[in-house]
Amino acid sequence: MLPAWTGEAPGWLLPNGVAMAYAATTMTDASKKRTVLAVQNIKGGVGKTTIAVNLAALLAEKHHKQVLVIDADPQCNASLYLLDDPRFDARTRNDPQRQEGNLYDLFHGDVRYLDVVTGQHYGPKRSTSNCRELVRTCAGGGSLSLVCGSAELFDVQEIAAELVLPRLKRWIRTTGDAYDHVIIDCPPSISSLSLSALKAADSILVPMAADVFSVHGLRILLETLARYKKVYDIQAKVAGVVLSLFPPDGDARRTGAENYAQRIREACATNVPAIPCLMQSISRDNAYPESFEKRSPLPFSPKPAHDRLVDELDAIATELGLIGGGP
Ligand SMILES: Nc1ncnc2c1ncn2[C@@H]1O[C@H](COP(=O)(O)OP(=O)(O)O)[C@@H](O)[C@H]1O
Ligand SMILES: [Mg+2]
Repeated sequence: MLPAWTGEAPGWLLPNGVAMAYAATTMTDASKKRTVLAVQNIKGGVGKTTIAVNLAALLAEKHHKQVLVIDADPQCNASLYLLDDPRFDARTRNDPQRQEGNLYDLFHGDVRYLDVVTGQHYGPKRSTSNCRELVRTCAGGGSLSLVCGSAELFDVQEIAAELVLPRLKRWIRTTGDAYDHVIIDCPPSISSLSLSALKAADSILVPMAADVFSVHGLRILLETLARYKKVYDIQAKVAGVVLSLFPPDGDARRTGAENYAQRIREACATNVPAIPCLMQSISRDNAYPESFEKRSPLPFSPKPAHDRLVDELDAIATELGLIGGGP
């Protein structure tokens, strides 16, 4: 017989019809002032992960902040940017004895199957107390920690949003007080997973390439975000669009990108409500994919050749009000 969930709602249903129940966790609000920024666009390959990870590294390394990156993309690129293979495998391997947790455990950790015939609970139950990893303690006193992603998060995308939506927000409220900044790297979709991230966030940063697809995609994206924000009572505001992968001076694609950038800025300004398009863009530079290969974001391995790129990140952090006297 099919197991079913009983007890107090909310429970959640997996696509295969297996149902679950979970015990509610007592939550307390955090007293410390912190920002929760979700980096989101429904399009992939626009630099979300690159910006999320490098911005986090900048805040930790250069501004001595306590920063937490949450990898909410089942493709786990942010986790792979920050962890070497053994550490990543330790957090994601499919082993019931695994001690090191990841974001899936946070969605799933307090859930057990209930066999309605025997009344017995069974199946994996993981503690959510070990789903964070300290990636780096910086010389100036800052730190970067990670909630690792997992391919199992694809399951969460299939679950009805109502059933999981508050989980990440509640978890951040209980644990986020240790951090100045929480940055969530979202998957390129609107699903229960990204909606959970948006629900948990104070603000949303939308990276976007300055190209013809973005000009047309922007309105669809903003309308979609506005609709879901209303349906799921998501309070996060769009902090801004940031133009990524921007061709540097001398690049043949520069003039075209400037034209598209102008159209994107106009579309942001005429949107209702108007949303900021950040003045600072992020240059297209091979240093980014190279830093991904080295598993070390640019602010962690300073080189004079990268100063200009780190300065761009700094200007973006200022415009977002994460440091200095921004909005
Ligand atoms: N500013 C940049 N300059 C050059 N390459 C970049 C830049 N930003 C991202 N990339 C590369 O583009 C690809 C997609 O970036 P990524 O951050 O993974 O996008 P997303 O998270 O939106 O899918 C990756 O190979 C990444 O290294
Ligand atoms: Mg990504």
